Amino acid sequence: MESKPFSTPTRPATVIIGTQFGDEGKGKLVDYLSDKYDIVVRYQGGANAGHTICFDNKSVVLHLIPSGIFHKDCVCVIGNGVVIDPVALLDEIRKIEELGYEVKGRLFISHNAHLIMPYHKLLDSLHETAQGDQKIGTTGRGIGPSYEDKFARKGIRVVDLLNMKVLQEKLRENLESKNKLLKNIYERDEIDVETMLREYAEFDKIIDPYITNTQLYLNQKLKEGKTVLLEGAQGCLLDVDHGTYPYVTSSNPTSGGACTGSGIAPNYVGKVIGVVKAYMTRVGNGAFPTELFDETGEALGRIGHEFGATTGRKRRCGWIDLVALRYSLAVNGVTEIALTKLDVLDTFDEVKACISYMLDGREIHDFPTDHQTLSRVTPVYTTLKGWMASNANARSFSDMHPEAQNYVAFLERELAVPVTFVSVGPGREETVFR
Ligand code: GDP
Ligand code: IMO
Ligand code: MG
Repeated sequence: MESKPFSTPTRPATVIIGTQFGDEGKGKLVDYLSDKYDIVVRYQGGANAGHTICFDNKSVVLHLIPSGIFHKDCVCVIGNGVVIDPVALLDEIRKIEELGYEVKGRLFISHNAHLIMPYHKLLDSLHETAQGDQKIGTTGRGIGPSYEDKFARKGIRVVDLLNMKVLQEKLRENLESKNKLLKNIYERDEIDVETMLREYAEFDKIIDPYITNTQLYLNQKLKEGKTVLLEGAQGCLLDVDHGTYPYVTSSNPTSGGACTGSGIAPNYVGKVIGVVKAYMTRVGNGAFPTELFDETGEALGRIGHEFGATTGRKRRCGWIDLVALRYSLAVNGVTEIALTKLDVLDTFDEVKACISYMLDGREIHDFPTDHQTLSRVTPVYTTLKGWMASNANARSFSDMHPEAQNYVAFLERELAVPVTFVSVGPGREETVFR
């Protein structure tokens, strides 16, 4: 019998992930690349994300809608892995429409995505307050409680909005246990089912046209030869499996999550672009080996405007951590790096990079994901000469100051992954593509 030729899968999907603690500049990169892709998909997280896009003298922060929305030919999908707060979603749709961009017909929302209900947001903040010093420092967007219900198989999904009877039943069931918690543990007023049902019936009217079987849709489009950009939220070190547990978010921002959170199979994925900030930041609690508590840390935060795009909280700042990055690049299978915020280092006479850790008098090169161990390491730095010159106008690698080029070459050598983009400012055009 004649054997069939082996068909090689095409790889039209690219994943963009944060390699650090989030806020690496994923939004900027996704927006920059969106005109080269047909579809942009968010695959996990929810309105805890804050992705900033700067174009035409505007700065817009997106929390739920993919960062391709400002490219008129680009279709945006909110995948099954996302947890959706309808209030945040409608607010965002309105904001985008006010800027003159059509959303209807360009945004598809997975019928399998879970909803964030008002009680999720309430329980998120009540739980955090009760934790005192031990709190995670969540964004308060109800992310954890919503994913808890998803994995406990009690969650309310977008598809449930299409059937009021099902919604009513599920809501009653959920509120029964949530109200017990609110009343008996947190001494709060109970939530009324009917009021909430009325509110969600209103959402349904608006959200209905966007609801789609996105797994099916995406696979059809891939078969037709369309290209897809998968937009990660948060970052590898906040991943519930691979991050600094328990100081993490409740989803998988890593590249594997792009498949489960969208329904796109791994063999469609070619490139995995890891977004690396030229230094490190973290919002919320948890270990951060290279955190600086001095004037240098303050300067990084001041020059880099390091305030959370979602909560406005001050971000903790420190030098780049190559131990954490090597781990992150491996876990995500990063094929190329987009280096962001290089311009923030323009005024430093020296730039440091953590190349290993000391732990109990021993030098270690592997990233401990166990929080207790990670909290005890101290960074070992190598120091590079700063460039003390602006790279803001650089549009090609050769335009960059030689010492800035040297920093990029150093990172490539240490991380063994090519840097294909260097971002030298928040604007769309402030990008060097190599
Ligand atoms: P994301 O969550 O990964 O999309 O990142 P955020 O939007 O939360 O945070 C990144 C911040 O840095 C935003 O304010 C961006 O506008 C800004 N930004 C992105 N790239 C650059 C860059 O290369 N230089 C400077 N100075 N700012 C940048
Ligand atoms: P983007 O997509 C930075 C952090 C919170 C907290 C932890 C858990 O903009 O990079 P959660 O509300 O998810 O339960 O909070 O995760 N966190 C982020 N930090 N950028 C984000 O998103 C984040 N999303 C969540 O500060 O430490
Ligand atoms: Mg952000």
